[in-house]
Amino acid sequence: MRKPVAMITGASRGIGRGIAIELAKQGYDIIGTATKLTPEDRDKGLFEVKDRVESYAVNFVPVAGDIADPEARKRLLQEAFSAFGRVDVLVNNAGVGLLKRLDILETTEESYDRVMNINLKGPFFLTQAVANQMIRQVKQGTEYAPSVIFITSISSHTASPNRAEYCVSKAGISMMTKLYADRLAEYGIGVFEISPGIIATDMTSVVKDKYDKLIAEGLTPIKRWGQPEDIAKAVGAIAEGRLDFSTGQVINVDGGFHLRRL
Ligand code: NAI
Repeated sequence: MRKPVAMITGASRGIGRGIAIELAKQGYDIIGTATKLTPEDRDKGLFEVKDRVESYAVNFVPVAGDIADPEARKRLLQEAFSAFGRVDVLVNNAGVGLLKRLDILETTEESYDRVMNINLKGPFFLTQAVANQMIRQVKQGTEYAPSVIFITSISSHTASPNRAEYCVSKAGISMMTKLYADRLAEYGIGVFEISPGIIATDMTSVVKDKYDKLIAEGLTPIKRWGQPEDIAKAVGAIAEGRLDFSTGQVINVDGGFHLRRL
């Protein structure tokens, strides 16, 4: 039997790296993307992840490019299909925070467009293209039921007026999950949202002290930082087919942050 194939955006570090390792353990061949490839530095980024992933006897194809750029998405699809000819799991993980936090009354169109293009438009059209490929696979008969996973954030339901455009982009992905879940159910393609809480990665390293304090004070019922592996385990459960009748489901991996408490 051929190995299943996962495409993971933003796989060079943090949450995406954790997901790549988890799916490699499950025997997936992987197409991992990031903004940059650094061939001169084989210990970092996608090359480090490639070495780690391939220690599980699967293949890892690294692809660089800006997810917001239609040409880069086209190249990514070409490289993916020429390497493996199929995609069974798509994980839309790549995303950015803000270059500068500004109050919603001050924030700029430039920042809004940057975040929307990367966090929202990129996954929308990448998923459209990959979903059409998955439908072809299903029609031809496939041994693996495909699935699509969107990584959102507690910011999709929690207002932070000093990073409004990030919150709006993540709320948009929540709706994207529902839309694709509805549209793709007839083909047996499951679509899921995983909503991470505060996860220890490069993205959050700049606000480490602030969140150390908030977590210690009880911001989250489970008083610890989340790790990339926490998100990866949820992706792993979907990839293993354990949630096959739950399309459109939101999985909160946030230490209980989403609970209303009194
Ligand atoms: P990170 O900053 O450590 O890694 C981001 C990854 O996305 C990198 O591989 C980077 O190359 C890639 N990427 C960034 N911009 C890109 C672009 N324009 N085109 C292609 N790839 C691009 O981030 P982290 O923390 O691992 O976050 C991953 C996802 O999880 C993001 O969507 C983020 O919004 C979300 N998230 C993270 C949380 C956290 O606490 N770290 C909490 C909630 C959600």
